[in-house]
Amino acid sequence: MSSGLPSPESNRFRSAWCGEVLPARVGETVRVAGWVHRRRDHGGLVFIDLRDRTGLVQLVFDPDDAGEAFDLGHRLRSEDVLSVSGAVLERSPDTVNPELPTGSVEIRVEEADLLSHAETPPFEIESFSGEVSEETRLKYRYLDLRRDRMREAMELRHRVARSMREFLSEEGFLEIETPVLTRSTPEGARDFLVPSRHRQGSFYALPQSPQLFKQLLMIGGVERYFQIARCFRDEDLRADRQPDFTQLDVEMSFVESEDVIALNERLLASVLGECGVELELPMQRIPYDEAISRYGTDRPDVRFGLELSEITDVFRGSEFKAFADAIDGGAVVRALNAGAHEMSRSELDGLVSEAQEIGAKGLVWAVVEDAGWKCPIAKFLSEEEIEAANQALGAEAGDVLLIVADSPVASAEILGELRSRLGERLGLIPQGEHSLVWVVDWPLFASSEETGAWDPLHHPFTSPEGSLEASDPGAARAKAYDVVWNGWEVGGGSIRISDPEVQSTVFEILGIPDEVAEDRFGFLLQALRHGAPPHGGIAYGLDRIVALLHGSDSIREVIAFPKTASGADPLTGAPAAADPAQLRELGLGGRAAPKGPEGEGQ
Ligand code: AMO
Repeated sequence: MSSGLPSPESNRFRSAWCGEVLPARVGETVRVAGWVHRRRDHGGLVFIDLRDRTGLVQLVFDPDDAGEAFDLGHRLRSEDVLSVSGAVLERSPDTVNPELPTGSVEIRVEEADLLSHAETPPFEIESFSGEVSEETRLKYRYLDLRRDRMREAMELRHRVARSMREFLSEEGFLEIETPVLTRSTPEGARDFLVPSRHRQGSFYALPQSPQLFKQLLMIGGVERYFQIARCFRDEDLRADRQPDFTQLDVEMSFVESEDVIALNERLLASVLGECGVELELPMQRIPYDEAISRYGTDRPDVRFGLELSEITDVFRGSEFKAFADAIDGGAVVRALNAGAHEMSRSELDGLVSEAQEIGAKGLVWAVVEDAGWKCPIAKFLSEEEIEAANQALGAEAGDVLLIVADSPVASAEILGELRSRLGERLGLIPQGEHSLVWVVDWPLFASSEETGAWDPLHHPFTSPEGSLEASDPGAARAKAYDVVWNGWEVGGGSIRISDPEVQSTVFEILGIPDEVAEDRFGFLLQALRHGAPPHGGIAYGLDRIVALLHGSDSIREVIAFPKTASGADPLTGAPAAADPAQLRELGLGGRAAPKGPEGEGQ
């Protein structure tokens, strides 16, 4: 197996990669360079595994060949940086290591040069056990990056980005950079703000996405744009979220949803294919309402069943008042059949506590028996209700049922979350399988359960399907589509509003007063009045795509220098206190610094 790297330019450090010292080179003299991976002292001989990006090669320091270098061989420690030259020899059959491509040869060291001495590392690169805390790994990320798994992640990330670039370039897309110091681009998170020194009291916002600029590029006649863009969102972090992350951002003109979807299916098939994953086209499409009713989420993991059912009608007017009253108050009853499992009473009650932690007011469990249900509320339920529920849920004796009565949104969220946890816990998720689906037919707005205000399900620039009635925002559907991969939202996009009137109506529905809309988005409204083509696009979370291909459960595993779950960088110490003088210069805290000759002030 070859590393795929071109041979290095021969110089005083090396003439070959470690991983390329293959049996065909027996008899040659080579020079290699890298880090001491492992060291064994066998009496008179010292064996070193030397590591570079391409792999390992065994060095032998023998007093007969190595001369002065032999002493150095004795003194070497893990992670010292070394350049050596010597003859490539075949190993004796009993010392061959079939695990390594270079395992049947070794380099008999003739000259050795210690280029850099390494302190004892805080964790072993060679025998990394995974027990090292993430904090330590991130503090010493440069050591962590030396491990195979991290190197593979970086190589994969490069391959993914490159295949995206190649595919889109072939399709006539231009790669264009958009500003990082800009104005707020609302994508539902808080902005990171950067104070302006020239205009004290004013701030740039870091882009949550290049959304508005890519629309301006379409108005500018660019037709087809893409960018591998850094985006910044100040939001609560999770395994699939970072405050700064990378999007593959794409936009096209004179297109409808179907055009964007078709191009993106080919893009995904090409990128995944490059990484050894075959994507069957066309991809499955699930309407938003169906995703919620069957899976309890707009990010359905369709690799396993455990689907939800709505059984509100079964309990309408029930003797069990908690359900009947909730239904009268607008609640729905959703349930899932977890299948036949031996579960103790305390395990079943444990599910109730778990549901409450997720945010449920309550959860009813039932174990289906030949005659009725074993269930804390069984005495309130009629035979007919139990029979009807069994029927709706396809329940058989031994099955465990989980039932929630709550608002349509909350009941779906709670059971959807329980479904994914149970899928994991019960081993229902086939490993190594990739399932990508489009979620389509989105509502344009959702009303906040707390305030009743309307919020966009995507962003405010998403085009409605058909005409938009300001009087009935709840009925509006969006020309939007998301890509969901194994339950992760990896991409989202839409056709955009290209009519300034419609854009103003959306701002109105969102409760953004005219003057605020003009102040924040006036430039967009103005641009839309200058001949906007119909346009649409999508953006993918590059980190998420790489993590899924890499088989990592956190995007931190595929980002060279990520932040911890609390948004900190243990390596550099960011975020850090600012120098008071710097703050004064920015007009933040303390006395304002005198203005420099170029300062504009305000
Ligand atoms: P959206 O907000 O859905 O859409 O973002 C697109 C994709 O970016 C990824 N993503 C993230 N990845 C890591 N950390 C985060 N904090 C994070 N937030 C989002 C997700 C998501 O699907 N402008 C629109 C796109 C468009 O309409 O074209 C946008 O940004 O994978």
